[in-house]
Amino acid sequence: MELIDAMRTAGSTREFRNEAVPDEIIYRVLDNARFAPNGGNRQGWRVIVVRDPVMRKSVRDLYLRSWVENFQPLFAHLPGNGTRPADRYAEHLHELPLQLIVLVERAALKTTVSAIDDSAIVPGASIYPFVQSVVLALRAEGLGTVLTAGLTPVAAEAKQLLNVPDEYVIVAHMGVGRPARPFPTRLKRKPVEEFASIDRFGGPVLKDAEGLRA
Ligand SMILES: Cc1cc2nc3c(=O)[nH]c(=O)nc-3n(C[C@H](O)[C@H](O)[C@H](O)COP(=O)(O)O)c2cc1C
Repeated sequence: MELIDAMRTAGSTREFRNEAVPDEIIYRVLDNARFAPNGGNRQGWRVIVVRDPVMRKSVRDLYLRSWVENFQPLFAHLPGNGTRPADRYAEHLHELPLQLIVLVERAALKTTVSAIDDSAIVPGASIYPFVQSVVLALRAEGLGTVLTAGLTPVAAEAKQLLNVPDEYVIVAHMGVGRPARPFPTRLKRKPVEEFASIDRFGGPVLKDAEGLRA
């Protein structure tokens, strides 16, 4: 599949077909994702491929509790609470053939520059390009996923369950499977004009000279 098509259509999948995903596909996904940029090329990522049914259920139980306690209340004022795709995804997560849990070694995020180390966001630049490459590589295989931080509020329990050493941080959880429906052809995102400016913040907008949005 074309890279640009993958980038433009790798939206969140929350409903899946009941279909196995062979290990060789996941191997290929990770084999492609491993070329992601990262500080000092220390490649601190680790991936746990959760496919044992008992383990899938245990992770789902943690994910669901985390979802209900921490995220669902954010949408409680909207209609359909408890029945939206994200709610159903959390409930049915264990039915998916596998879940990917991405970890990073804390030391691999460290630099000698305190302005970087002290940032809550910038060190993530050494792991989230890898995570997005996994998302794109899954898309290229026709596999759907939804990238979440759903395990973070229950990270201590998740780490214990998965035997994760202290020096690793859980950075992403992704349920993976064959999508129940075709991928979207157009995701909802702001146009370039709303976020890109020339020479300075708030400067002239970068114009669509090629008429791409027409
Ligand atoms: C850091 C992060 C956390 C997210 N958490 C959740 C989540 O807890 N549950 C969920 O269903 N989707 C979650 N998502 C997926 C977003 O809702 C999704 O990327 C966004 O709404 C865009 O939707 P689309 O890709 O389908 O267009 C998360 C995404 C990111 C990057």
